[in-house]
Amino acid sequence: MSVEWNSTLEIGIPEIDEQHKELVVAVGRLMVSFGENTAEEEVRRLLLFLNQYVTDHFSTEEALMVQHGYPAVEGHKARHAEFIASFRRLIDEFKENGATTKLAQMTQFSVVTWLLNHIGREDKQLGAFLKAEVAT
Ligand SMILES: [Fe+2]
Repeated sequence: MSVEWNSTLEIGIPEIDEQHKELVVAVGRLMVSFGENTAEEEVRRLLLFLNQYVTDHFSTEEALMVQHGYPAVEGHKARHAEFIASFRRLIDEFKENGATTKLAQMTQFSVVTWLLNHIGREDKQLGAFLKAEVAT
């Protein structure tokens, strides 16, 4: 399944939208790279990039939530922590077995599906809250 950025994923906060775009593009490249001959190196590079980028991105969102007194901050942080934990499992799987079909399936479920659902739900709720904050 291809993963592409599109404007329906925007939450209306430019700093977060830019980071989401970068994330979705990198995840899309990761999914494409699973099917290529050069998979091993490219998958390694993208997993390492995403590992760092996701951590930084979650920190940006969490700092904004705290700064603006977002009421659902704890639940949202918990979702982020779950993602980090499942991403670690992907890295462990890669270290153990390389860029396998199983890893591609795990990535589809715990990165692609998760990310699109999370942006579409929790992050959109956060965006609506922050926009209302700015407007008042
Ligand atoms: Fe989030």
